[in-house]
Amino acid sequence: MNFKTLEWRDQSLHLLDQRALPSRVRTVVCRTVAEVAEGIRNLTVRGAPAIGVAAAYGMALAPRGSSTVGGDVTSDLAHAAEILKSTRPTAVNLAWAVDRMLRLAQESTPLEIRVLRDILEREAAAIHTEDAAMCRKIGEHGAALLSEGMTVLTHCNAGALATAGIGTALGIIYTAKEQGKRLHVFVDETRPVLQGARLTMWELMQEGIDATLITDNTAASLFGAGKIDAVVVGADRIARNGDVANKIGTYNLAVLAAYHKVPFYVAAPQSTFDAGIASGAEIPIEERSATEVVEIGGVRIAPVGSRVFSPAFDVTPSEFVTAIVSDSGIRPGGRPSK
Ligand code: MRU
Repeated sequence: MNFKTLEWRDQSLHLLDQRALPSRVRTVVCRTVAEVAEGIRNLTVRGAPAIGVAAAYGMALAPRGSSTVGGDVTSDLAHAAEILKSTRPTAVNLAWAVDRMLRLAQESTPLEIRVLRDILEREAAAIHTEDAAMCRKIGEHGAALLSEGMTVLTHCNAGALATAGIGTALGIIYTAKEQGKRLHVFVDETRPVLQGARLTMWELMQEGIDATLITDNTAASLFGAGKIDAVVVGADRIARNGDVANKIGTYNLAVLAAYHKVPFYVAAPQSTFDAGIASGAEIPIEERSATEVVEIGGVRIAPVGSRVFSPAFDVTPSEFVTAIVSDSGIRPGGRPSK
């Protein structure tokens, strides 16, 4: 990849500003917990694994203002955890990373603040590196599911921009390409904030992948015409029963794929699996602001006063999932094979 989604440099978190892509390639520098939280909330950085890594660095910034050992650093860390977790509720990677950082801090105190900061920085860097390694493994496992000449449909952006590595769903496509397989990818534009059009197309074009952008409502006709061989998407949270939360519109594709007998694959690292919940019914679904729906690129497209409902994610029941590809391998979903 010739871009870095996030980078820790000079004790600050540098985020590739995904709100500006594809028109401008610019970086936002976060030096405080509040700045990291804002970057996650306003989608400067987005995608479940990437917001987990960003939140880990946010936690590493928490003891910055603390001057004494004990009392205030403990409350600074707890406060940072609360702020970061409140940004986006659906992707479990975020809470997972924050809790991992908090646990380590609790085990490490009382320590000199300088030492604690070093420990937290190293842990955030470890989460970063592990995420990149998990993407590689997902790519290797998942590439076996794709063969020469296939046409794949993807939704939202589950690529390098959504992770600290080569991506999950797109990581599979990149790895298949590395293995010499020629694929074609249809990319859903992904309203309301167009992660498919703006981000996935940008990424795939940089990587030389043959890709075609479609509006979200085009998918059914492509399935009907027999033009999709597989669907590959990412995930924000996977429940114990295999239900999958992902970008709103994913469920539509899963139902279409089942009806047309096209495999529906979900790709996600271990940090996306939530062992604490039995089914997708327990996954909190973030609602986004009406502005993202009534405006596109700052231009109003709906009457002033329009009532809006904008869930950012939906839950695809396990029965529509053919398989889940993770760093530890491929596990069958709940969709019957016939
Ligand atoms: O709102 P976003 O852009 O953060 O939503 C991202 C998605 O839904 C991705 O598909 C998911 O996080 C997996 S990213 C590897």
